[in-house]
Amino acid sequence: MTKPIKILSIETSCDETAAAVLSVELNGKKINSIKTLSAVVKSQIKLHAKMGGVVPETAARAHVKNILPVVNQALSNSHSQLSTINYLAVTQGPGLIPSLIVGVEFAKALSFATGIPLIPINHLSGHLYSALPNSQYPLPSTLFPLISLIVSGGHTMIVLMKDPFNYKIIGQTVDDAAGEAFDKVAKLLKLPYPGGPEVSKLASIGNSEAINFPRPMINSKDFNFSFSGLKTAVLYYVRDNKPISQLSDAKKQKFLKDICASFQQAAIDVLIKKTLRAAKEFKAKSVSLSGGVSANSELRRQLNLACKMLNITDLAAPFSMTGDNAEMIGIAAAMSLAKGTKLKSAKNIYADPGLGL
Ligand code: KG4
Ligand code: ZN
Repeated sequence: MTKPIKILSIETSCDETAAAVLSVELNGKKINSIKTLSAVVKSQIKLHAKMGGVVPETAARAHVKNILPVVNQALSNSHSQLSTINYLAVTQGPGLIPSLIVGVEFAKALSFATGIPLIPINHLSGHLYSALPNSQYPLPSTLFPLISLIVSGGHTMIVLMKDPFNYKIIGQTVDDAAGEAFDKVAKLLKLPYPGGPEVSKLASIGNSEAINFPRPMINSKDFNFSFSGLKTAVLYYVRDNKPISQLSDAKKQKFLKDICASFQQAAIDVLIKKTLRAAKEFKAKSVSLSGGVSANSELRRQLNLACKMLNITDLAAPFSMTGDNAEMIGIAAAMSLAKGTKLKSAKNIYADPGLGL
């Protein structure tokens, strides 16, 4: 029996200040188990709702205010003293630079002061690993090759994982991310921020066949996406109809519900079709779904159904890990340790807003 190690992970790439403590049983290159001892997320939604979107400087100031209490809370919820932590992990990028700097510099300072080594983590690898079954470590080889769909506010990509340590992007958005499209559609419909959950709430009671919005790039041979044209189609539809403010309450409600449902279905159709085409081409045994947009229950339901028809295992991030969180950063750090990635001195780790997967 190997002694479990403890990882304290920190995430501040956008508008959530998060920290988690994980206990990992590591045996050479094999992870025998990962247990989340605590996971704290302090959201800044209320702060940014007033402005209708994330203001980077405001986000950074809030991270500065929240980071110490959030880390302390994660330590105390896990009944851990800092002295029992074996590794620190922090999101290095991609993300908003003012936000990333707060987490990275905090983690570096903590590493200098305590001597605990620091593992820099790619935010997208966090989303990638968040969908793998946490209760099934060591990960069964029967899950691979795996096709992963990562859909967030900043990214939309299809990743091919040949095994738990080897992954590469095989397709991504050429313009807006899927979450960004949800947020922009919400904004033009004057729905509150953050838009994604609002659009999906209205969509759940609307008619998805009411308006035939375009499915950009659905038949292109590659695995790339484009969502900016879809958003513009919604904009033109709204512009070419009677102004929302002049509609009666009942008509307004129906108008909004149908636009949301039709837009959402157009986005889902493209996401699922491309993901399944990739799964077939690479003979995937499983498909995974993660990132903020994976909280969309209609996307989860339809992808699950499609995978069942093809006899492919369907994995989705638990709801607690769909939005930004530090638990997924801890899991990615455990994978990095298992892979044997050489650790850098903390002084050579810098926030990198454009870090690629
Ligand atoms: O992963 P995430 O928390 O942050 C980034 O890394 O970007 O993703 C946030 C995105 C936002 O665009 C938000 O509107 C979207 O996820 N989102 C949703 C839903 N919940 C969150 N989009 C569609 N349906 C939802 N239920
Ligand atoms: Zn994210």
